[in-house]
Amino acid sequence: MKSLCVVVPKKKAEPVRQKLMSKGLLKKELQIRSDSHNVYLPITQRVDLCYPVETMNFQETKEQIKDYRLLVDLPDDLRRYLPSSYDVLGSIAIVKISDEVLTHASKIGKAIIAAQKAVSTVCIDVGVTDEFRTRGVKVVAGEKDLETVHKEYGLVFKMDVSKVFFSPRLATERETVANQVCPDETVIDMFAGVGPFSIMIAKTRAPRIVYAIDSNPDAIRYLEENIELNKVKTVKPVLGDARERIGDLEAADRIIMNLPHSANDFLPDAIRALKPGGTIHFYEIMEDTELDNRMDEMRSLAVKEGRVMKLLARRNVKSYSPSLNFYAFDLSFL
Ligand SMILES: C[S@@+](CC[C@H](N)C(=O)[O-])C[C@H]1O[C@@H](n2cnc3c(N)ncnc32)[C@H](O)[C@@H]1O
Repeated sequence: MKSLCVVVPKKKAEPVRQKLMSKGLLKKELQIRSDSHNVYLPITQRVDLCYPVETMNFQETKEQIKDYRLLVDLPDDLRRYLPSSYDVLGSIAIVKISDEVLTHASKIGKAIIAAQKAVSTVCIDVGVTDEFRTRGVKVVAGEKDLETVHKEYGLVFKMDVSKVFFSPRLATERETVANQVCPDETVIDMFAGVGPFSIMIAKTRAPRIVYAIDSNPDAIRYLEENIELNKVKTVKPVLGDARERIGDLEAADRIIMNLPHSANDFLPDAIRALKPGGTIHFYEIMEDTELDNRMDEMRSLAVKEGRVMKLLARRNVKSYSPSLNFYAFDLSFL
């Protein structure tokens, strides 16, 4: 296909490519050409960058550039600070940006939108803000709408990313837990959020009932919508503090405790609500060196509650920081 292009000596080509990209003048659908001296950058309109503009034939690009970092126009000494990954929840990308490149957040956001077709909003993550584990987010590029529908294993989860917690990085863990559920079980999801564990279990494992507790009214509102959207009948939303509400429920075969910074405070209540021989899926963020001590503490706690704890499985689900990991423990209490 014929197109206008800027002819740039090879050594000067990269900054020119980035400039054209950031101004939206590079034709992404055409493949850049080069010979031994020059690079030929296809452009949408004539542009004066002190390099010749010619008309040439170009082949169409087969693949979209997926690494947004190739599209950000940034001084070379700052490129190492560009985040290497980010979370995508439906149409919203949430990215943590270090102080060194914070003033370039909007450019980073635009590049992510350009690189990822499904993304129409980019927010920066300014940290977890409250007891509901919601993230403080600020839109830096794209549409200002923070409500989205995220797909996971064929299920859909509607949410406002600023009002509820949701981590797409737990998708595999949710499936691992769901796969352990037997038909007709009574399950309690103590910190259910918008329902990803509860709804996956209800949809795929034929439980008798899944009580989904959360203290965040927005999470419960979206959970109710997600129950409808996924057409599940056995999830029962329970609004309130898990410690108070769990005592009102029938004894469970299985309890999920995904509150990794403080689930430990709720463990005695969970053990009391669990049938003999039942399973607790317990999550905690900790250093590897703490693992053995924590197991001993949990065993002692079980004994205090008149139970015997057995570790069925342990998983290092994801890294949380350079020294901390997010661990899953499958625990049986006889
Ligand atoms: C880490 S999130 C997990 C959400 C969900 N399980 C998931 O995988 O997306 C923890 C959830 O626990 C809720 N929460 C925090 N403290 C609580 C409490 N005392 N009782 C009930 N829910 C609580 C928060 O609102 C949040 O939705």
